[in-house]
Amino acid sequence: MTARNVVVLSSSPRKDGNSDMLCHEFAAAAREAGAAVDEVALRDLKIAPCRACYGCWNSQRCVLGDDVAPLLEKIAAADVLCVATPVYFGLPCGQLKVMIDRLLPLWQGLGGKDVYLILTGHDGRAGLAHAADDLRLVFENLGDAVCGIVWGEHVWQKGEVVGTAAVADARQLGTRAAHGA
Ligand SMILES: Cc1cc2nc3c(=O)[nH]c(=O)nc-3n(C[C@H](O)[C@H](O)[C@H](O)COP(=O)(O)O)c2cc1C
Repeated sequence: MTARNVVVLSSSPRKDGNSDMLCHEFAAAAREAGAAVDEVALRDLKIAPCRACYGCWNSQRCVLGDDVAPLLEKIAAADVLCVATPVYFGLPCGQLKVMIDRLLPLWQGLGGKDVYLILTGHDGRAGLAHAADDLRLVFENLGDAVCGIVWGEHVWQKGEVVGTAAVADARQLGTRAAHGA
C-alpha cells in the first residue's frame, strides 16, 4: 500500500507556539504510522492577498509570483490536509485567511481530501468553535471531509499546550490520518 501523503499547514505567525507544537505532534504520529508528511509554516512563505483579478479563472495560474504556486501543488497532491490556526478575535488568523483566498486557481481540484483542524486559544472550546465552523465551511465547500479537530483550548503563552489533552489528541488524529479516517 502506498503511504498517504499528508500536508500539515501551521498558520501561526509565532514560531514554536502552541499551534506549531500540536502540528509537530500530529506530523510525528502520522510519520510513525507510515505516512509521507510535509510540514509547512505559512510565516516562512511569501503569500500576498488575492487581488481578485480573476487572471486564474481560465489558466488555473495566479498572476502573483510569490510562494503560493508550489504550495498549491503540494496541497492538491495531498491525501490529507492538517490545518492549524490560533484563534484571533474568535476567528481563524488572518495569515490563514489570506492563504485560503489564494486557493482560487485550483479550487475545483481540491476536493476529496481528509482534513484535520487544529485550533489554539486561551478560550475554552465554545470560544474556539466559531473558528472551527468557519474552516469546516471552507473545506466542505471544496469537497473535503473534516475528519477530526484538535482543541488546543485554554492556552496562551508559548508552551502552555505541553501536558494538555490536546497533545494526545493531535497524536491520535495524526495516526488516524496515516491510516485513513
Ligand atoms: C491578535 C490576537 C487575538 C487573539 N484573540 C483570541 C481569541 O479571540 N480567543 C482566544 O481564545 N485566544 C485569542 N488569542 C490568543 C491566541 O489564540 C493563543 O495565544 C494561541 O495559543 C496562539 O497560538 P500560537 O501559540 O500558535 O501562536 C489571541 C491572540 C492574539 C495575538
